[in-house]
Amino acid sequence: MQTGIRAKISAVGHYLPDYVLTNKELESMVDTTDEWITTRTGIRERRILKDPDKASAFMAAEAAREILEDRNIDPAEVDVVIVSTITPDYMFPSTACLAQTMIGANNAFAFDLSAACSGFLYALSTGVSMIESGRYRKVLVLGSDKMSAITDFTDRATCILFGDGAAGVLLEPSGDENGILDQIMCSSAEGAEALIQMGGGSRNPASHQTVDKRWHYIYQDGRPVFKRATEGMADIAVQIMKKNRLTADDIDWLVPHQANLRIIDATARRMDLDPAKVMINIDRYGNTTAATIPLCLHDWKDKLAKGDKLILTAFGGGYTWGATYLSWAI
Ligand code: UT7
Repeated sequence: MQTGIRAKISAVGHYLPDYVLTNKELESMVDTTDEWITTRTGIRERRILKDPDKASAFMAAEAAREILEDRNIDPAEVDVVIVSTITPDYMFPSTACLAQTMIGANNAFAFDLSAACSGFLYALSTGVSMIESGRYRKVLVLGSDKMSAITDFTDRATCILFGDGAAGVLLEPSGDENGILDQIMCSSAEGAEALIQMGGGSRNPASHQTVDKRWHYIYQDGRPVFKRATEGMADIAVQIMKKNRLTADDIDWLVPHQANLRIIDATARRMDLDPAKVMINIDRYGNTTAATIPLCLHDWKDKLAKGDKLILTAFGGGYTWGATYLSWAI
């Protein structure tokens, strides 16, 4: 059924923990250097949620509060809360249920969605379909990851990459031509062995053995993931440009997932895009998984103008990847 309804982003919000873990501090924890991390990844520092009583639901709720304040609406008006996360507070109940109750969105239904680094784009696609269906008018789409909870701080190959944070948007029906214009979403289990948290699920339930093998932490075979991510993110960005007959001049901003500065640069080059049009904050936050793209939208909020054309793109664990083309509506 085509309703003719277009979804738009009507507000943006975020939450970042206060604690700043610098490359310098990491030098004292593992055999690495600030120079190696900066040149190979672009990361200088990342945030860590130190309070052991707080996790992804808390950060999602804080981001949601900022969104509702920004839009000046009551939590009771929210119809749906979607949280994308690979670091849920518990296996169940969902992080979205917990966050919904923390903010008092008591008329909403809430659920989690898991698509690793493409999680925000997957959640956005789901939320957009809900608005376009005509059944829902206010959908909170949040990405929240406490990556430090699954990071092995003795493994120099992964512990330098990730950070904690949350951010998200409110989706509502658009009254004009601005809003979400196109989306392409892809997945394949091809990368399942290269980027995985082995333990804690139904395949390898948590046990002394899974802990001894450190399966409760992220495992990444960096090189193959880097190669596929570099191709995959650039390919999907170029594909959505071609599908919508866009040239680099038509695009005001590229909003890439922040996994590695070299992957972002390669994507912008393939799109033939002026580097000044690329949102980059990986230097300050590292890879916050589902939060990277909305954190960029938040950081660039004041520079965005109504009608600006944005391409959002991501590649991550699964593999999952995708792109969104939108016209800024605020
Ligand atoms: O967001 C989800 C998707 N994830 C990604 O997109 C991440 C993709 N992968 C990457 O970004 C990169 O592969 C990394 C940043 C993880 C690694 O960079 P790399 O240029 O691919 O390095 P490498 O894994 O090929 O390692 C090169 C060398 C190795 O030493 P040898 O074997 O050449 O002697 C590593 O042991 O660098 C060494 N190394 C380090 N040295 C200093 C690995 N980690 C570190 C470190 N400090 N932290």
